[in-house]
Amino acid sequence: MGELASGHPNVVAPDGTLAAAAPADTHFLRIEKLVKEFDGLVAVDNVSLDICKGEIFALLGSSGCGKSTLLRMLAGFEMPTSGRIFLDGKDIAALPPYIRPINMMFQSYALFPHLTVWDNVAFGLKRDGLPKDQIAERVEKMLGLVQLKPYAKRKPHQLSGGQQQRVALARSLAKRPQLMLLDEPLGALDKKLRERTQLELVNIIESVGVTCVMVTHDQEEAMTMASRIAIMSEGRILQVGAPHEVYETPSCRFVADFIGNVNLFEGKLTEDASDHVVIETPECTHYVGHGITGTEGMAVSVAIRPEKIRITQQPPSDLARPACNWVKGEVVDLAYLGSYTVYHLKLATGMILKATVASVERLPDWQPTWGDSVFASWDEYAMVVLTQ
Ligand SMILES: Nc1ncnc2c1ncn2[C@@H]1O[C@H](COP(=O)(O)OP(=O)(O)OP(=O)(O)O)[C@@H](O)[C@H]1O
Ligand SMILES: [Mg+2]
Repeated sequence: MGELASGHPNVVAPDGTLAAAAPADTHFLRIEKLVKEFDGLVAVDNVSLDICKGEIFALLGSSGCGKSTLLRMLAGFEMPTSGRIFLDGKDIAALPPYIRPINMMFQSYALFPHLTVWDNVAFGLKRDGLPKDQIAERVEKMLGLVQLKPYAKRKPHQLSGGQQQRVALARSLAKRPQLMLLDEPLGALDKKLRERTQLELVNIIESVGVTCVMVTHDQEEAMTMASRIAIMSEGRILQVGAPHEVYETPSCRFVADFIGNVNLFEGKLTEDASDHVVIETPECTHYVGHGITGTEGMAVSVAIRPEKIRITQQPPSDLARPACNWVKGEVVDLAYLGSYTVYHLKLATGMILKATVASVERLPDWQPTWGDSVFASWDEYAMVVLTQ
Protein backbone atom coordinates (compact mmCIF):
# COMPACT_ATOMS: atom_id res chain seq x y z
CA MET A 1 0.00 0.00 0.00
CA GLY A 2 0.86 3.67 -0.24
CA GLU A 3 3.49 5.49 -2.24
CA LEU A 4 3.26 3.14 -5.23
CA ALA A 5 3.22 5.95 -7.72
CA SER A 6 4.88 8.69 -5.73
CA GLY A 7 7.45 9.12 -8.49
CA HIS A 8 4.77 10.10 -10.98
CA PRO A 9 3.67 13.65 -10.33
CA ASN A 10 0.50 15.12 -11.72
CA VAL A 11 0.49 16.52 -15.21
CA VAL A 12 -1.88 19.07 -16.62
CA ALA A 13 -3.63 17.79 -19.71
CA PRO A 14 -4.04 20.13 -22.72
CA ASP A 15 -7.65 20.78 -21.75
CA GLY A 16 -6.53 22.01 -18.35
CA THR A 17 -7.61 19.00 -16.34
CA LEU A 18 -5.22 17.32 -14.00
CA ALA A 19 -4.33 13.83 -15.09
CA ALA A 20 -2.12 11.35 -13.35
CA ALA A 21 1.19 10.70 -15.01
CA ALA A 22 1.19 6.95 -14.77
CA PRO A 23 4.18 4.98 -16.07
CA ALA A 24 3.91 4.49 -19.83
CA ASP A 25 3.77 0.70 -19.66
CA THR A 26 0.99 0.53 -17.13
CA HIS A 27 -1.96 2.34 -18.66
CA PHE A 28 -4.12 -0.50 -17.51
CA LEU A 29 -7.31 1.44 -17.05
CA ARG A 30 -7.57 4.58 -19.13
CA ILE A 31 -10.48 6.95 -18.73
CA GLU A 32 -10.71 9.61 -21.42
CA LYS A 33 -12.83 12.75 -21.14
CA LEU A 34 -15.71 10.90 -19.53
CA VAL A 35 -18.95 12.83 -19.14
CA LYS A 36 -22.28 11.80 -17.63
CA GLU A 37 -25.30 14.05 -17.69
CA PHE A 38 -28.64 13.37 -16.00
CA ASP A 39 -31.37 15.64 -17.40
CA GLY A 40 -29.04 18.59 -17.78
CA LEU A 41 -27.15 17.94 -14.53
CA VAL A 42 -23.50 17.14 -15.19
CA ALA A 43 -22.68 14.43 -12.64
CA VAL A 44 -19.27 13.54 -14.13
CA ASP A 45 -17.57 16.37 -15.97
CA ASN A 46 -14.76 15.59 -18.42
CA VAL A 47 -12.80 13.15 -16.26
CA SER A 48 -9.53 11.73 -17.57
CA LEU A 49 -7.48 9.27 -15.53
CA ASP A 50 -4.81 6.63 -16.00
CA ILE A 51 -4.71 3.83 -13.49
CA CYS A 52 -1.81 1.38 -13.27
CA LYS A 53 -1.99 -2.39 -13.07
CA GLY A 54 -2.10 -3.63 -9.49
CA GLU A 55 -2.79 -0.18 -8.13
CA ILE A 56 -5.33 0.67 -5.42
CA PHE A 57 -6.77 3.95 -6.57
CA ALA A 58 -9.22 5.99 -4.50
CA LEU A 59 -11.86 8.45 -5.64
CA LEU A 60 -12.40 10.85 -2.78
CA GLY A 61 -15.00 13.57 -2.56
CA SER A 62 -18.01 14.81 -0.67
CA SER A 63 -21.53 13.47 -1.12
CA GLY A 64 -23.00 13.97 -4.58
CA CYS A 65 -19.73 14.85 -6.34
CA GLY A 66 -20.10 12.01 -8.84
CA LYS A 67 -17.95 9.21 -7.39
CA SER A 68 -20.51 6.43 -7.66
CA THR A 69 -21.59 7.58 -11.11
CA LEU A 70 -17.99 7.35 -12.32
CA LEU A 71 -17.64 3.89 -10.80
CA ARG A 72 -20.94 2.75 -12.28
CA MET A 73 -19.77 3.80 -15.74
CA LEU A 74 -16.62 1.71 -15.27
CA ALA A 75 -18.78 -1.26 -14.28
CA GLY A 76 -21.15 -0.69 -17.19
CA PHE A 77 -24.28 0.02 -15.13
CA GLU A 78 -24.39 3.54 -16.51
CA MET A 79 -23.78 4.60 -20.12
CA PRO A 80 -21.44 7.59 -20.51
CA THR A 81 -22.86 10.66 -22.26
CA SER A 82 -19.46 10.94 -23.92
CA GLY A 83 -15.87 9.82 -23.44
CA ARG A 84 -14.06 6.51 -23.56
CA ILE A 85 -12.90 3.79 -21.19
CA PHE A 86 -10.04 1.45 -22.07
CA LEU A 87 -9.17 -1.63 -20.06
CA ASP A 88 -5.88 -3.24 -21.00
CA GLY A 89 -5.98 -1.37 -24.31
CA LYS A 90 -9.54 -2.43 -25.24
CA ASP A 91 -12.38 0.08 -25.48
CA ILE A 92 -15.03 -1.25 -23.11
CA ALA A 93 -17.44 1.70 -23.06
CA ALA A 94 -20.04 -0.11 -25.15
CA LEU A 95 -19.76 -3.53 -23.42
CA PRO A 96 -22.59 -4.64 -21.14
CA PRO A 97 -21.61 -5.17 -17.48
CA TYR A 98 -21.62 -8.98 -17.55
CA ILE A 99 -19.07 -9.13 -20.37
CA ARG A 100 -16.61 -6.76 -18.68
CA PRO A 101 -13.80 -8.44 -16.70
CA ILE A 102 -14.78 -6.19 -13.85
CA ASN A 103 -16.43 -6.82 -10.51
CA MET A 104 -18.19 -4.20 -8.48
CA MET A 105 -18.64 -4.60 -4.74
CA PHE A 106 -21.53 -2.56 -3.46
CA GLN A 107 -21.69 -0.80 -0.16
CA SER A 108 -24.50 -3.03 1.09
CA TYR A 109 -22.44 -6.14 0.13
CA ALA A 110 -25.65 -7.64 -1.34
CA LEU A 111 -24.99 -11.08 0.17
CA PHE A 112 -27.72 -13.67 -0.31
CA PRO A 113 -29.24 -14.09 3.14
CA HIS A 114 -30.53 -17.64 2.57
CA LEU A 115 -27.19 -18.97 1.31
CA THR A 116 -24.25 -20.03 3.45
CA VAL A 117 -20.92 -18.23 3.29
CA TRP A 118 -19.59 -21.04 1.09
CA ASP A 119 -22.52 -20.81 -1.34
CA ASN A 120 -22.36 -17.03 -1.44
CA VAL A 121 -18.75 -17.21 -2.59
CA ALA A 122 -19.54 -20.03 -5.05
CA PHE A 123 -22.61 -18.32 -6.51
CA GLY A 124 -21.02 -16.47 -9.44
CA LEU A 125 -18.82 -19.43 -10.33
CA LYS A 126 -21.80 -21.80 -10.46
CA ARG A 127 -23.67 -19.34 -12.64
CA ASP A 128 -20.70 -19.25 -15.00
CA GLY A 129 -20.90 -23.05 -15.24
CA LEU A 130 -17.46 -23.78 -13.83
CA PRO A 131 -16.82 -27.50 -13.12
CA LYS A 132 -17.62 -28.54 -9.53
CA ASP A 133 -14.08 -29.42 -8.49
CA GLN A 134 -12.78 -26.07 -9.74
CA ILE A 135 -15.52 -24.22 -7.87
CA ALA A 136 -14.66 -26.05 -4.66
CA GLU A 137 -10.97 -25.32 -5.06
CA ARG A 138 -11.51 -21.62 -5.69
CA VAL A 139 -14.02 -21.14 -2.90
CA GLU A 140 -11.69 -22.84 -0.40
CA LYS A 141 -8.81 -20.66 -1.55
CA MET A 142 -10.85 -17.47 -1.25
CA LEU A 143 -12.20 -18.38 2.19
CA GLY A 144 -8.63 -19.05 3.28
CA LEU A 145 -7.52 -15.70 1.93
CA VAL A 146 -10.14 -13.78 3.90
CA GLN A 147 -9.71 -16.10 6.92
CA LEU A 148 -13.28 -17.33 6.97
CA LYS A 149 -12.82 -21.07 6.52
CA PRO A 150 -14.32 -21.87 9.94
CA TYR A 151 -17.42 -19.83 9.02
CA ALA A 152 -18.17 -21.55 5.70
CA LYS A 153 -21.45 -23.09 6.89
CA ARG A 154 -22.87 -19.96 8.50
CA LYS A 155 -25.46 -17.66 7.01
CA PRO A 156 -24.69 -13.92 6.60
CA HIS A 157 -26.85 -12.90 9.59
CA GLN A 158 -24.65 -15.06 11.84
CA LEU A 159 -21.59 -12.97 10.98
CA SER A 160 -20.27 -9.63 12.20
CA GLY A 161 -20.21 -6.64 9.85
CA GLY A 162 -16.50 -7.08 9.18
CA GLN A 163 -16.93 -10.78 8.42
CA GLN A 164 -19.78 -10.03 6.01
CA GLN A 165 -17.56 -7.53 4.31
CA ARG A 166 -14.90 -10.19 3.85
CA VAL A 167 -17.43 -12.63 2.38
CA ALA A 168 -18.43 -9.98 -0.14
CA LEU A 169 -14.78 -9.46 -0.98
CA ALA A 170 -14.16 -13.20 -1.35
CA ARG A 171 -17.19 -13.47 -3.63
CA SER A 172 -15.94 -10.59 -5.80
CA LEU A 173 -12.41 -11.98 -6.02
CA ALA A 174 -13.54 -15.56 -6.73
CA LYS A 175 -14.36 -14.66 -10.30
CA ARG A 176 -10.81 -13.37 -10.76
CA PRO A 177 -11.76 -10.01 -12.20
CA GLN A 178 -9.09 -7.86 -13.82
CA LEU A 179 -10.53 -4.82 -12.14
CA MET A 180 -12.32 -4.53 -8.80
CA LEU A 181 -14.58 -1.60 -8.07
CA LEU A 182 -15.34 -0.94 -4.43
CA ASP A 183 -18.04 1.58 -3.54
CA GLU A 184 -17.56 2.62 0.10
CA PRO A 185 -16.23 -0.88 0.93
CA LEU A 186 -16.12 -0.25 4.67
CA GLY A 187 -19.08 2.10 4.93
CA ALA A 188 -21.11 -0.25 7.12
CA LEU A 189 -18.41 -0.81 9.74
CA ASP A 190 -17.83 1.16 12.93
CA LYS A 191 -14.69 3.27 13.26
CA LYS A 192 -12.48 0.78 15.12
CA LEU A 193 -13.36 -2.14 12.87
CA ARG A 194 -12.99 0.09 9.82
CA GLU A 195 -9.43 0.97 10.74
CA ARG A 196 -8.48 -2.64 11.33
CA THR A 197 -10.17 -3.82 8.14
CA GLN A 198 -8.52 -1.16 5.95
CA LEU A 199 -5.07 -2.71 6.19
CA GLU A 200 -6.48 -6.23 6.05
CA LEU A 201 -8.27 -5.36 2.83
CA VAL A 202 -5.12 -3.84 1.31
CA ASN A 203 -3.16 -7.00 2.15
CA ILE A 204 -5.76 -9.24 0.53
CA ILE A 205 -6.06 -7.07 -2.59
CA GLU A 206 -2.29 -6.89 -2.96
CA SER A 207 -1.79 -10.61 -2.44
CA VAL A 208 -4.18 -11.26 -5.33
CA GLY A 209 -2.63 -8.48 -7.40
CA VAL A 210 -5.96 -7.20 -8.68
CA THR A 211 -6.28 -3.57 -9.78
CA CYS A 212 -8.73 -1.69 -7.62
CA VAL A 213 -10.69 1.53 -7.87
CA MET A 214 -12.41 2.42 -4.63
CA VAL A 215 -14.79 5.18 -3.69
CA THR A 216 -14.79 6.75 -0.28
CA HIS A 217 -15.69 10.03 1.37
CA ASP A 218 -13.32 9.27 4.26
CA GLN A 219 -9.95 10.87 3.62
CA GLU A 220 -8.11 8.79 6.19
CA GLU A 221 -9.40 5.65 4.54
CA ALA A 222 -8.24 6.86 1.13
CA MET A 223 -4.82 7.79 2.51
CA THR A 224 -4.41 4.47 4.35
CA MET A 225 -5.47 2.22 1.52
CA ALA A 226 -4.67 3.88 -1.78
CA SER A 227 -1.43 4.33 -3.68
CA ARG A 228 -2.99 7.35 -5.38
CA ILE A 229 -6.02 9.48 -4.70
CA ALA A 230 -8.20 11.56 -7.02
CA ILE A 231 -10.04 14.40 -5.31
CA MET A 232 -13.41 15.10 -6.90
CA SER A 233 -15.71 18.06 -6.59
CA GLU A 234 -18.85 18.73 -8.62
CA GLY A 235 -18.06 16.03 -11.15
CA ARG A 236 -14.50 17.18 -11.82
CA ILE A 237 -11.17 15.81 -10.72
CA LEU A 238 -9.23 18.57 -8.98
CA GLN A 239 -6.01 16.71 -8.22
CA VAL A 240 -4.48 13.27 -8.52
CA GLY A 241 -1.53 12.20 -6.44
CA ALA A 242 0.00 9.97 -3.82
CA PRO A 243 -1.33 10.63 -0.29
CA HIS A 244 1.65 12.79 0.68
CA GLU A 245 1.39 14.80 -2.55
CA VAL A 246 -2.23 15.81 -2.11
CA TYR A 247 -1.56 16.58 1.56
CA GLU A 248 1.71 18.51 1.27
CA THR A 249 1.21 20.10 -2.15
CA PRO A 250 -2.50 20.64 -2.67
CA SER A 251 -3.24 22.22 -6.05
CA CYS A 252 -6.04 24.53 -4.93
CA ARG A 253 -7.94 25.85 -1.91
CA PHE A 254 -10.58 23.16 -2.16
CA VAL A 255 -8.08 20.29 -1.97
CA ALA A 256 -6.08 21.96 0.82
CA ASP A 257 -9.24 22.38 2.83
CA PHE A 258 -10.73 18.99 1.99
CA ILE A 259 -7.66 16.92 2.92
CA GLY A 260 -6.83 17.35 6.58
CA ASN A 261 -6.93 20.58 8.49
CA VAL A 262 -5.49 23.79 7.15
CA ASN A 263 -5.15 27.49 7.99
CA LEU A 264 -5.82 29.70 4.99
CA PHE A 265 -4.55 33.29 4.98
CA GLU A 266 -5.89 35.51 2.18
CA GLY A 267 -3.57 38.17 0.81
CA LYS A 268 -1.58 39.70 -2.04
CA LEU A 269 1.73 38.83 -3.62
CA THR A 270 3.98 41.83 -2.97
CA GLU A 271 7.38 40.48 -3.96
CA ASP A 272 7.88 37.88 -6.65
CA ALA A 273 11.48 36.63 -6.93
CA SER A 274 12.72 33.37 -8.42
CA ASP A 275 13.85 32.00 -5.05
CA HIS A 276 11.23 33.51 -2.75
CA VAL A 277 7.95 35.40 -2.58
CA VAL A 278 6.49 37.75 -0.02
CA ILE A 279 2.78 37.80 0.67
CA GLU A 280 1.02 40.44 2.74
CA THR A 281 -2.08 39.34 4.60
CA PRO A 282 -4.02 41.26 7.23
CA GLU A 283 -2.53 38.95 9.88
CA CYS A 284 1.18 39.13 9.02
CA THR A 285 3.84 39.16 6.34
CA HIS A 286 4.62 35.75 4.90
CA TYR A 287 8.09 35.04 3.53
CA VAL A 288 7.97 31.90 1.40
CA GLY A 289 11.32 30.28 0.63
CA HIS A 290 10.58 29.33 -2.99
CA GLY A 291 9.29 30.96 -6.14
CA ILE A 292 5.77 30.49 -7.50
CA THR A 293 4.15 31.13 -10.85
CA GLY A 294 2.42 34.41 -10.18
CA THR A 295 2.64 38.15 -10.65
CA GLU A 296 3.00 40.92 -8.12
CA GLY A 297 -0.31 42.21 -6.86
CA MET A 298 -2.23 39.00 -7.51
CA ALA A 299 -4.56 37.65 -4.86
CA VAL A 300 -3.28 34.41 -3.30
CA SER A 301 -3.94 32.19 -0.29
CA VAL A 302 -1.26 30.94 2.04
CA ALA A 303 -2.04 27.47 3.40
CA ILE A 304 -0.35 26.20 6.55
CA ARG A 305 -1.09 22.89 8.22
CA PRO A 306 -1.69 23.08 11.99
CA GLU A 307 1.19 20.69 12.77
CA LYS A 308 3.68 23.02 11.06
CA ILE A 309 2.98 25.81 13.55
CA ARG A 310 4.98 26.27 16.76
CA ILE A 311 3.54 27.92 19.82
CA THR A 312 5.86 29.84 22.15
CA GLN A 313 5.53 32.04 25.20
CA GLN A 314 8.09 34.59 23.93
CA PRO A 315 8.38 36.07 20.42
CA PRO A 316 10.15 33.55 18.17
CA SER A 317 13.89 34.26 18.13
CA ASP A 318 15.03 31.66 15.63
CA LEU A 319 13.36 32.93 12.46
CA ALA A 320 15.62 33.74 9.50
CA ARG A 321 13.52 36.89 8.90
CA PRO A 322 12.39 38.25 12.24
CA ALA A 323 9.58 40.39 10.76
CA CYS A 324 7.89 37.53 8.94
CA ASN A 325 6.00 34.30 9.58
CA TRP A 326 4.69 34.84 13.07
CA VAL A 327 1.54 36.15 14.72
CA LYS A 328 0.29 36.84 18.21
CA GLY A 329 -2.84 35.14 19.43
CA GLU A 330 -4.95 34.23 22.41
CA VAL A 331 -5.77 30.63 23.26
CA VAL A 332 -9.57 30.46 22.97
CA ASP A 333 -9.93 26.71 22.75
CA LEU A 334 -7.87 23.62 23.28
CA ALA A 335 -8.47 19.92 23.06
CA TYR A 336 -6.05 17.42 24.57
CA LEU A 337 -6.21 14.29 22.44
CA GLY A 338 -3.51 12.21 24.08
CA SER A 339 -0.87 12.04 21.39
CA TYR A 340 -1.33 15.70 20.52
CA THR A 341 -3.19 18.85 21.57
CA VAL A 342 -5.22 21.07 19.25
CA TYR A 343 -5.09 24.80 19.97
CA HIS A 344 -7.36 27.49 18.57
CA LEU A 345 -5.70 30.89 18.69
CA LYS A 346 -7.68 34.06 18.10
CA LEU A 347 -5.65 36.61 16.15
CA ALA A 348 -6.08 40.41 16.17
CA THR A 349 -8.05 40.24 12.90
CA GLY A 350 -10.50 37.77 14.42
CA MET A 351 -9.09 34.84 12.40
CA ILE A 352 -8.88 31.56 14.32
CA LEU A 353 -5.53 29.87 13.80
CA LYS A 354 -5.37 26.11 14.39
CA ALA A 355 -2.16 24.61 15.70
CA THR A 356 -1.43 21.08 16.87
CA VAL A 357 1.34 20.31 19.31
CA ALA A 358 2.59 16.74 19.59
CA SER A 359 2.88 15.36 23.11
CA VAL A 360 6.58 14.64 22.78
CA GLU A 361 7.36 15.22 26.45
CA ARG A 362 5.26 13.63 29.14
CA LEU A 363 5.59 16.58 31.53
CA PRO A 364 6.58 19.68 29.54
CA ASP A 365 7.84 22.83 31.32
CA TRP A 366 5.17 24.98 29.76
CA GLN A 367 1.82 24.25 28.19
CA PRO A 368 -0.42 26.99 26.83
CA THR A 369 -3.85 27.12 28.38
CA TRP A 370 -7.12 29.03 27.94
CA GLY A 371 -6.69 32.79 27.86
CA ASP A 372 -2.90 32.68 27.40
CA SER A 373 -1.38 35.19 25.05
CA VAL A 374 1.06 33.28 22.83
CA PHE A 375 3.15 33.52 19.67
CA ALA A 376 2.62 31.25 16.70
CA SER A 377 5.37 30.91 14.13
CA TRP A 378 6.38 28.75 11.20
CA ASP A 379 9.34 28.46 8.88
CA GLU A 380 9.55 29.67 5.30
CA TYR A 381 9.03 26.19 3.83
CA ALA A 382 5.96 25.35 5.90
CA MET A 383 3.42 27.00 3.66
CA VAL A 384 1.85 26.33 0.28
CA VAL A 385 0.84 29.31 -1.85
CA LEU A 386 -2.43 28.73 -3.65
CA THR A 387 -3.48 30.78 -6.64
CA GLN A 388 -6.80 29.10 -7.36
N1 LIG B 1 -29.85 7.94 -11.98
C1 LIG B 1 -29.71 9.23 -11.70
N2 LIG B 1 -30.60 10.14 -12.20
C2 LIG B 1 -30.46 11.46 -11.97
N3 LIG B 1 -29.47 11.99 -11.22
C3 LIG B 1 -28.56 11.15 -10.69
C4 LIG B 1 -28.64 9.73 -10.90
N4 LIG B 1 -27.60 9.14 -10.25
C5 LIG B 1 -26.93 10.15 -9.66
N5 LIG B 1 -27.48 11.34 -9.92
C6 LIG B 1 -27.00 12.66 -9.48
O1 LIG B 1 -25.65 12.80 -9.87
C7 LIG B 1 -24.87 13.42 -8.86
C8 LIG B 1 -23.72 12.51 -8.45
O2 LIG B 1 -24.24 11.37 -7.78
P1 LIG B 1 -23.31 10.18 -7.23
O3 LIG B 1 -24.18 9.10 -6.75
O4 LIG B 1 -22.33 9.83 -8.29
O5 LIG B 1 -22.58 10.91 -6.02
P2 LIG B 1 -21.53 10.33 -4.97
O6 LIG B 1 -20.29 11.14 -5.12
O7 LIG B 1 -21.39 8.87 -5.13
O8 LIG B 1 -22.20 10.71 -3.60
P3 LIG B 1 -22.29 9.86 -2.18
O9 LIG B 1 -20.98 10.07 -1.49
O10 LIG B 1 -23.41 10.53 -1.47
O11 LIG B 1 -22.57 8.43 -2.52
C9 LIG B 1 -25.84 13.73 -7.73
O12 LIG B 1 -26.25 15.07 -7.84
C10 LIG B 1 -27.00 12.78 -7.97
O13 LIG B 1 -28.20 13.32 -7.49
MG1 LIG C 1 -21.95 7.18 -3.87
